[in-house]
Amino acid sequence: MSQNDTSFTENSGASNEIISNRLKGKVAIVTGAGHGIGLAYAARLALEGAAVVIAELDAEAGEKAEAELKNKGYSALAVATNVTDPGSLDEMAKKTLDTFGRIDVLVNNAAIFSTIPMSRSPFDEIAIEEWDAMMAVNVKGAWLASRAVSPAMKKQMSGKIINISSGTALKGSASRIHYVTSKAAILGFTRTLARELGPYNINVNCVAPGNTLSEVNPDESTLSFRNAGANDRALKRTEKPSDLVGAVAFFASPDSDFITGQTLVVDGGSFMH
Ligand SMILES: NC(=O)c1ccc[n+]([C@@H]2O[C@H](COP(=O)([O-])OP(=O)(O)OC[C@H]3O[C@@H](n4cnc5c(N)ncnc54)[C@H](O)[C@@H]3O)[C@@H](O)[C@H]2O)c1
Repeated sequence: MSQNDTSFTENSGASNEIISNRLKGKVAIVTGAGHGIGLAYAARLALEGAAVVIAELDAEAGEKAEAELKNKGYSALAVATNVTDPGSLDEMAKKTLDTFGRIDVLVNNAAIFSTIPMSRSPFDEIAIEEWDAMMAVNVKGAWLASRAVSPAMKKQMSGKIINISSGTALKGSASRIHYVTSKAAILGFTRTLARELGPYNINVNCVAPGNTLSEVNPDESTLSFRNAGANDRALKRTEKPSDLVGAVAFFASPDSDFITGQTLVVDGGSFMH
């Protein structure tokens, strides 16, 4: 997937006049921030005053995101990161500390998602290697990234970890059971990590997006799949990355200081609980 300047600005919620400075002085790491919704999270956190680390497997995309943020006057650093590799994540944490001196926010956004074929994949036809790769990035990656930043957060006695699940984990879905299972794991991961890190004043919360048009240049079939999401929502329109950034900024900010272990569904009222 590619991105461009226009989507970058739109997705950050830049047109929203209520943007505040509530993350001034904070340092936020967003995994998988070179493309899609992660890029929008990074842009919004920067807009709210944070220095942002783009921890991205696609090094070229990460560097492009860093340049775009810096061009707009924000502090940013791209770190080529593979969330399945503990050494790579330790390096991510080290480079963040060396450059910005602290780690306040981690958004566990990296996942195998848009690269899964849109075609329906019955549960008994999924290749074992594909199942393992899904769990390695989507589940183990969030665990390893949290493990890498937690020493700095514990030392500070403060921090915000925001995990990204999916509405599919709450509703079920008639395909891609490996993806849905990985996103369901993130719900339990969030609750347990919140209990373990609570004594260190670290909040752990989760955002569950609905079907979101995260592609910059979607083909016809992708567009119709994304637009179809509007049908079972209370709010009848296609979900965009800009719909999600406010929830992540809220969980990153002091406004959510007494909220932990929670999952916020942001899907226009498709799944209600
Ligand atoms: N788009 C949706 O409809 C939707 C719905 C619900 C939840 N989500 C979740 O939102 C998040 C972002 O989704 P998206 O649509 O922007 O997906 P995307 O595929 O566009 O972005 C994922 C990003 O993660 C990066 N990445 C993949 N493997 C990595 C690794 N091993 N290490 C580091 N980075 C890696 C990719 O390069 C990419 O930049 C994902 O967690 C996804 O599961 C998306």
